[in-house]
Amino acid sequence: MIEISVRAGDASKQRDDAVVVPLLAGRKFSAAGKSLQQATGKALPNVLRKFDTSGEFKQISTLYLESALAQRVVLLGVGEPRKLTLQKLRVLAAHVARELNKGGARDIALYLTELRVRGASVADKVQAVAEGLLLGLYKFDKYQHQDAEAAARELRSVTVMVPSRRDLAAAEDAVVRARAIAGGTNFARDLANEPGNVCTPAFLGEQAASLQREHLQVTVMDKAAIAEAGLNALLAVNQGSAKEPRFIVLRYQGGEAEQAPVALVGKGLTFDAGGISLKPGPQMEEMKYDMCGSAAVLGIFKAVTELNLPINLLGVIPSTENLLGSAAYKPGDIITGYKKDISIEIQNTDAEGRIILSDALAYAADQQPAEMIDFATLTGACVIALGAQASGLMGTGEAVKEGLKASAERTYDRVWELPLFEEYQEQIKSDIADIRNIGGREAGTITAACFLSRFVGDVPWAHLDIAGTAWNMKGTDLSPKGATGAGVRLVTDYLIQRASKVKSSTAASAA
Ligand code: BES
Ligand code: MN
Ligand code: ZN
Repeated sequence: MIEISVRAGDASKQRDDAVVVPLLAGRKFSAAGKSLQQATGKALPNVLRKFDTSGEFKQISTLYLESALAQRVVLLGVGEPRKLTLQKLRVLAAHVARELNKGGARDIALYLTELRVRGASVADKVQAVAEGLLLGLYKFDKYQHQDAEAAARELRSVTVMVPSRRDLAAAEDAVVRARAIAGGTNFARDLANEPGNVCTPAFLGEQAASLQREHLQVTVMDKAAIAEAGLNALLAVNQGSAKEPRFIVLRYQGGEAEQAPVALVGKGLTFDAGGISLKPGPQMEEMKYDMCGSAAVLGIFKAVTELNLPINLLGVIPSTENLLGSAAYKPGDIITGYKKDISIEIQNTDAEGRIILSDALAYAADQQPAEMIDFATLTGACVIALGAQASGLMGTGEAVKEGLKASAERTYDRVWELPLFEEYQEQIKSDIADIRNIGGREAGTITAACFLSRFVGDVPWAHLDIAGTAWNMKGTDLSPKGATGAGVRLVTDYLIQRASKVKSSTAASAA
């Protein structure tokens, strides 16, 4: 992994392989560029005049100036300075790091935090830049044979330059935060990018157990223990698979013993073929990502334990494949899971996520958490509604939903709320059981959440449908093709805010 440190000092005095300085729209420099301009005599202004570079957002030009101390001066276009945001800093850091990763510069000094971003401290900017570097440089290439020559040219270290020595202490803390948050996100990406023959329910259990440490206890139930606990909805979905299911419970005690935990529940479907209601062939391989909810939960636990947050957390992950073996559950079956007073008619075996989550949510609610957040690649309808730009947010907990919206704004791991009106519950009524597992063509994301709502009791609850955000086959600046780790930055930020009891509200951040 790339090394990140912080330093203060003049751009003209750095001897790194490359000094990256911002170029603002209209070819204007900030302090770093001005310092280089002075130190290089006329060299930099002259080159700039001849150059095509305009300071447009993300435009990169590398200059080799005899008169500069650093081997390369990299001009990084940042666009309109007044339109800068923390997200743009993340994107710029990721973009320039990826570009330089292809060249020969190994150790670089990066000047971005001297730019003004409304409402952001230097520490906020350092955190954003460090997150951008760590997220943008993520790769999942363990199954590809390496080109040793290219690897030897890759970036080794980035020094995030800060305006003044007085900023250094806060900047170091910001890098620690960024490392934990990006580390949790990249851990979630690693798990989800594994193919279905490697990332099985048993594998997820082992990965969860590997997180165990002081204050974090991990219990992995096998099939016998799952049956013993009465988690029969999970068992029903597992019937079609030759692989054993797992039910994973994580307990983190970073806060007072008597404090009720926040519960995090994640869908851990390691491959979803649809079951007897078989999915069509094209893109079915993407259904290895149907465990991204569980990966998000594990990524959050990794980040939270690394940060030693003074909070209590409960994690619950139901995990199985959804296949179509001869014992598979079938359309028309009626099952009763962990929650004994609700019978469920199966009308489509492909609506399996809500089935296994019903057991996990009811189990988690039994532990009397203060609030509950679930993560699930639950509905194709959510991909249609929101695309890749926002996770669907629904639920009964107004405070937790508002907190998540504020964190979404801060992290750019975005959410958009859909309503859970009482009337939608009509759609999941069954003629023969209490409820059925599909709600018809209309409002599919909402009726799936309605189904979940029957199992949360009176615990304040937020549901995140990450079907559109959890993976991306095009790739973005902050995430190459594949799993994105959606939800990790969002909820880790939410928990950090909660721990510091800073009640951020969307109203306050909008003002
Ligand atoms: N894992 C899928 C949802 C999904 C589909 C996520 C495509 C991302 C991309 C889920 O188990 C599922 O199959 N849902 C069905 C529900 C339907 C049968 C009511 C769906 O969305 O088609
Ligand atoms: Mn399905
Ligand atoms: Zn699924």
